[in-house]
Amino acid sequence: MKRVVFDKVGPPQDVLRVEEDVPAPQPKWGEVMVRMLASPINPSDLMYIAGRYTLVPDFPATPGFEGVGVVEATGGGLLGWFRKGKRVAVIGSRTGTWAEYAVTSAKFVVPIPNDITDEQAACFFVNPATALAMVNHVLRVPRGGWLLQSAAGGELGKMVVRMGKKFGFRTLNVVRRREQVDQLKKLGADAVIVESDGPIPEQVKKLAPHGVRYAIDPVGGATGSGVIASLTDGGKCLLYGSLSDEPISVHPRLCIGTAISVEGFWLGHWAKKQRIVTMLRLFRQVKALMREGILSTQFAATYPFEDAAKAVAHAAAPGKGGKVLLKIGDR
Ligand SMILES: NC(=O)c1ccc[n+]([C@@H]2O[C@H](COP(=O)([O-])OP(=O)(O)OC[C@H]3O[C@@H](n4cnc5c(N)ncnc54)[C@H](OP(=O)(O)O)[C@@H]3O)[C@@H](O)[C@H]2O)c1
Repeated sequence: MKRVVFDKVGPPQDVLRVEEDVPAPQPKWGEVMVRMLASPINPSDLMYIAGRYTLVPDFPATPGFEGVGVVEATGGGLLGWFRKGKRVAVIGSRTGTWAEYAVTSAKFVVPIPNDITDEQAACFFVNPATALAMVNHVLRVPRGGWLLQSAAGGELGKMVVRMGKKFGFRTLNVVRRREQVDQLKKLGADAVIVESDGPIPEQVKKLAPHGVRYAIDPVGGATGSGVIASLTDGGKCLLYGSLSDEPISVHPRLCIGTAISVEGFWLGHWAKKQRIVTMLRLFRQVKALMREGILSTQFAATYPFEDAAKAVAHAAAPGKGGKVLLKIGDR
C-alpha cells in the first residue's frame, strides 16, 4: 500500500513524504483493518507533524487521527465481525489514517448510513463530538444563556453557532477577520466581535452587560486571556486548543474573587471517562445533527493524499475558509 510518512518533526512540507509498496498493517485481536476513502487535515494533525501536540509520534509515523473507510478485515472479536464490509468513520487509528489501509480498535469505528457523504463522514468525530461534548455535556449551556467563543469562524466554531440556534442558547463570537462577521450572522450568531476592534472584555461588556458564564477557547495567548477575563461570577471556560501557541495569563483575583474556573478539554480524555451508552447516544446525535447541517463541515479543497505536503500547506494557511480533505480511495 501507499502511505504518507514522516521520520522527524518539522515543517510539513519538509518532513512529509509518500512511501509506496509497504505492507498493509495487520489488525490484532479486537482491531479492524479499514481501507481508507478520505481523511481531513485538522489543526491537531498540523501540530502532531510539527511536534507540538499532546501525542508524540513514534517514527516512522503516519499522520491522520480520523477519516472514513470500509472495514476489510478483522483481527478477531464479535464487534469487528459485525463491522466487516461496513463503511465507517474511524478515530484513533494506531497506524494513522493518511494511508490506503489503517488499523484501529473495532470500538473506534462507527457505521455510517448511506445518506451521509464520505466527506462529512470523514469529519465525524473530532469536531462534531467535541462541540457536542463541550457545550451540552461539560458546560451544559442552558437555553437563553450566553456562550462566548473565540476562533468562531473555524469549522468547529461554526458548528457551535448553529447549535446555539438549534438548542436556544446565544452565541457571542470572536473572530480575527472582519469578513467572518456577516458569514457568522447568516449562520445564526447572536453577536460577533472582531479582535482588532478592542479588548475582548470591553467589547463583550457592551453586548452582554450582565456578563457571560460559559466560554470556550482554542486560541490561547491574548485571545484566550481576553475570553477568560470576560467571564462573570461563577463562569467557566474550557481551553480546547492552542492555535496561537502562546500561554494565557489569568489574574489570580479573577479566580478568587469571582470563582471563575478554567479547565482543559480533550475529546480523547473525556470519551475515556464516559459510559458506552453515553458515547452511543452521542454518535446517534452526531448523525442526526449532521443530516440537519448543524454539525456539518465545509470544505476549502480536496487533494489526492499523495499531495499531502501541498494539502497541509493549504490547511495551515490563514483564512482558508473550510477544511482541507485528503482523498485516499474510492468506494
Ligand atoms: N481538544 C479537543 O478535543 C479538540 C477537538 C477538536 C478540535 N480542537 C481544536 O479546535 C480548534 C479549531 O479546530 P477547527 O477544525 O475548527 O479549525 P479550523 O477550521 O482550521 O479553524 C480555525 C479557526 O481559528 C482561527 N485561528 C487560527 N489561528 C488563530 C490565532 N492565532 N488567533 C485567532 N484565531 C485563529 C482561524 O482563523 P482564520 O479563518 O482567519 O484562518 C479559523 O477561523 C483547533 O485548535 C483544534 O485543535 C480540539
